[in-house]
Amino acid sequence: MKILITGANGQLGAELQKQLAAGESELGRLPDAVQNAAVTAVDVDALDITDLAAVRAFVRAEKPDVILNSAAFTNVDGCETNRDAAFAVNAIGPRNLAMAAEEIGAKLVHVSTDYVFSGEENGGIPLDETARTHPVSAYGATKLLGEEYVRQFCRRSFVVRTAWLYSYTGKNFVFTMMNAGKKFGALTVVDDQRGNPTNAVDLAHHLLKLAASEEYGLYHCTGEGVCSWYEFACEIIRLSGTPATVSPCTSAEYAAKNPAAANRPAWSALENRMLACTVGNEMRGWKDALACFMKNYLAK
Ligand SMILES: NC(=O)c1ccc[n+]([C@@H]2O[C@H](COP(=O)([O-])OP(=O)(O)OC[C@H]3O[C@@H](n4cnc5c(N)ncnc54)[C@H](OP(=O)(O)O)[C@@H]3O)[C@@H](O)[C@H]2O)c1
Repeated sequence: MKILITGANGQLGAELQKQLAAGESELGRLPDAVQNAAVTAVDVDALDITDLAAVRAFVRAEKPDVILNSAAFTNVDGCETNRDAAFAVNAIGPRNLAMAAEEIGAKLVHVSTDYVFSGEENGGIPLDETARTHPVSAYGATKLLGEEYVRQFCRRSFVVRTAWLYSYTGKNFVFTMMNAGKKFGALTVVDDQRGNPTNAVDLAHHLLKLAASEEYGLYHCTGEGVCSWYEFACEIIRLSGTPATVSPCTSAEYAAKNPAAANRPAWSALENRMLACTVGNEMRGWKDALACFMKNYLAK
């Protein structure tokens, strides 16, 4: 199998490459179909996904069986102030990949976000793939349009929504909390937004299971269990042994101090129902996946 990874230098792109090289992840062996795959991994310097002509030419030349799109404009606050760039990378980019994949009969695995939802609590029930979308930020809105384009332009597509992602490399909440904790000794973290922390190992493993299948469609793929950012931060500080205290605050208190920050959904916990009904849901509980991450990271 030939696999093309776009946005390959990001958190998810790096983890996908690692698992494909090893033929396995912390969760176990990858499916036979992706074993010994020929992998081409590119980031924006080699393939800018916003350039339709470049994407078409690259895909026609490479002829991958599967395209794994891990490219995105992921700075949620930055998307508010740079809407054209957010639109280009999060909506037009996936459209270009979808058109190019369709032209050569390739599968496209595209990653989206829990921020396509508004944040209405839903009675405390995690949102499955039938839940109605209503983004409250430029990031969420552009990612939602990207999802729609992928479905519209590529028949063999998987749209996979994840959330609160962290990995061994790159910028993420786990490293931000550890670094800020070390520097300031005291952290104040929002306690009224709830979702699912997701280890990139678990996400990449499931994306590769989907890539090996023909179970096309819309998926939620997040760590099991729900917490607030404050609870997530407490666990990060505890497991890492960072000498810092963590205090809760409300979104309103945070917004008063950070007026340029984007709106974020108060409730965006997801249910991995489609995974459970197709290739299987092996996503770990968020605390177990974080503990494993921290053990490996601190042992390095
Ligand atoms: N991070 C999260 O908490 C989170 C939550 C929910 C969903 N997701 C989704 O999960 C996926 C993976 O996220 P991630 O955290 O791995 O993202 P990431 O670490 O920010 O990586 C994204 C990569 O895409 C590259 N990129 C940006 N513009 C590009 C372009 N025009 N053409 C090609 N590559 C481009 C970036 O390069 P530069 O760094 O040079 O810009 C970066 O290497 C994304 O679809 C994201 O929306 C992430």
